[in-house]
Amino acid sequence: MTDIHKTMLLIGATSDIGRATALAYAQAGWRVLLAARNIEVAQRNADDIAARTGAEVNLYPLDILQSDALSTFADNLPVLPDTVICVVGEMGDQKRAQSDPEHAAMVFRTNFEGPALLMGLFANRFLTRGSGTIVGVSSVAGDRGRGTNYVYGAAKAGFTAFLSGLRNRLAPSGLRVVTVKPGFVRTRMTAGMKLPPLLTAEPGEVGAAILAAAEGKRGRDVIYVRPVWRGVMSIIGAIPEPIFKKLKL
Ligand SMILES: NC(=O)c1ccc[n+]([C@@H]2O[C@H](COP(=O)([O-])OP(=O)(O)OC[C@H]3O[C@@H](n4cnc5c(N)ncnc54)[C@H](OP(=O)(O)O)[C@@H]3O)[C@@H](O)[C@H]2O)c1
Repeated sequence: MTDIHKTMLLIGATSDIGRATALAYAQAGWRVLLAARNIEVAQRNADDIAARTGAEVNLYPLDILQSDALSTFADNLPVLPDTVICVVGEMGDQKRAQSDPEHAAMVFRTNFEGPALLMGLFANRFLTRGSGTIVGVSSVAGDRGRGTNYVYGAAKAGFTAFLSGLRNRLAPSGLRVVTVKPGFVRTRMTAGMKLPPLLTAEPGEVGAAILAAAEGKRGRDVIYVRPVWRGVMSIIGAIPEPIFKKLKL
């Protein structure tokens, strides 16, 4: 039990990655605040984390697409957290998004607009206080657009760029912004997909990596949970466009 006085806020508490991350913080002695739109499922996660660790775990309702409620959400928390982590995301259906603008907009807004607006609001409050760490879970899908998931990928690219700019803005004040690119993770989001074992992490691995990175123990502000992904994505990024556009990735 080290960081007994610290509080973390996890946005997206029904997510497999979110649950594992909150558990890792609770095991490290942090007070845990959870936010989710599905309170019933999130309450089960909150109870489980509290029972397994003895940590104080509180849960708050939040739909990240309700932009006009985000400020009130941040102001009504019992305490401004030391670390806020956003794992909210929605892969959506690429084929459907190509012809259904509402579906595409939901994917854009869930992966980019909502998380960016909320992290921006916490950044302002952290600046006023003079401390705080922001962690955004983005994706390798945002590193280069691919024909099979570019709506999700474009939204994640937007979130990655937002976090990069926020980091640049907050760094002179000593505040940290960490971008997490999990690679493949065995969760509800990837259920049914055939995933290569070397490139696929378990949610617990992601939770431990987030805690380590947020506490400065990974030596980087932008982490690929499994470092092999950094190499994979630099190769994919280096493929010239004339060749890339002929590949089915
Ligand atoms: N699994 C992977 O391979 C992988 C790879 C790279 C990045 N990621 C990213 O990792 C993060 C966590 O994903 P996961 O794998 O744990 O999948 P997940 O279980 O589907 O988690 C997605 C989370 O986003 C929440 N959410 C969606 N729309 C929301 C809204 N409008 N308001 C509030 N919460 C909302 C979901 O809540 P509900 O339960 O209410 O739907 C859920 O908690 C996501 O950002 C995802 O893009 C995952």
